[in-house]
Amino acid sequence: MKGLLLRADQSLEIAKLPQPTIKPKEVLIEVKASALNHREIWIQKGLYPGMKLPCILGADGAGIVIKCGSDVSADWLDKEVIVYPAYDWGDNEQAPTRQFRVLGMPDPGTIAEYIAMPVSNLIAKPTYLSWSEAAAIPVAGLTAWRALFSHGGMHKRSKVLITGIGGGVAQAGLSLAVAQGADVYVTSSSKDKIRQAISLGAQGGVNYREDNWHLQLKELSGGIDIVLDSSPSPILDNYFKFMNYGGRIVTYGSTGSPKTSISISKFFLRHIQFIGTAMGSPSEFQELLNFMEHHKIKPTIYKNFSLDQAVEAIETLSKGHQIGKIVLSH
Ligand SMILES: NC(=O)c1ccc[n+]([C@@H]2O[C@H](COP(=O)([O-])OP(=O)(O)OC[C@H]3O[C@@H](n4cnc5c(N)ncnc54)[C@H](OP(=O)(O)O)[C@@H]3O)[C@@H](O)[C@H]2O)c1
Repeated sequence: MKGLLLRADQSLEIAKLPQPTIKPKEVLIEVKASALNHREIWIQKGLYPGMKLPCILGADGAGIVIKCGSDVSADWLDKEVIVYPAYDWGDNEQAPTRQFRVLGMPDPGTIAEYIAMPVSNLIAKPTYLSWSEAAAIPVAGLTAWRALFSHGGMHKRSKVLITGIGGGVAQAGLSLAVAQGADVYVTSSSKDKIRQAISLGAQGGVNYREDNWHLQLKELSGGIDIVLDSSPSPILDNYFKFMNYGGRIVTYGSTGSPKTSISISKFFLRHIQFIGTAMGSPSEFQELLNFMEHHKIKPTIYKNFSLDQAVEAIETLSKGHQIGKIVLSH
């Protein structure tokens, strides 16, 4: 089979690989579409913890079950499924186990013609979604769901700030927050991306490259309850200019700066919560898909490539011009 292989020397290629074999509790999936995340770029640069190469990349995918292991009911054959994109969350909804890991390094990923995985990782693909749309959901959708609902406690009329709206998680968060009836504000380096966010239901946005963006946001929004944040500022005190008392900053990435500083007294006197999050549990994934199906939400897709164009697709992601997900049709 063909698959996107990251070799030990960090080079990427579409390689000819053996078709995976399945264990008794696993199924073989013919992958119909996969999608990219910033994670593939961190891994390619060797910046991800626990690097083990070579490996087939990719965490997002959807496809058809074509073979069942001896312990799996034959009812799964021919089922159209979306893949829960990780292993070993465990039983605790508060946090995963230490063994928790995302597909696509060290375990084989979804950017391949076939993938073997436990049947417990599969969820039926909602029929209103195309293969590309289904594949675009897992990592970004699940991360945004847990951040906004489980950690953020988002409800109708919550005032939500989504930073770096061009990103995949940010776009997923925008559609979930708008469907929930929240008032959404965004930041971006691009006027066009802010305009596009407004056309999708955001109230407005500011450019995070402007020094006084915190003040502009306060002026625009009147105050923010929840921040869905991929890029906390190097100085988090700036957030206190627009955060409402009791607000929650939920952080899932460190695109802008790997470190931040905070004025502790402002932090506690305002009852602010600063919460870290990564991906989500299998039950949150099911809740996400139920919510999306109920509201008929479709992920924003920036561009569709073929599997053979996977290396080009990753180069496109690394340029950062996209709004939404980059998808591969297999
Ligand atoms: N914790 C998790 O489970 C999880 C899951 C997925 C992703 N992530 C992490 O989250 C981050 C975003 O990933 P992604 O795949 O959603 O998006 P992405 O496609 O990597 O896009 C990142 C966006 O970040 C914005 N950005 C860049 N520099 C910024 C800065 N200095 N300040 C504010 N925003 C900035 C840009 O927005 P504009 O173009 O609008 O300017 C860009 O479109 C990455 O660091 C990724 O590793 C974490």
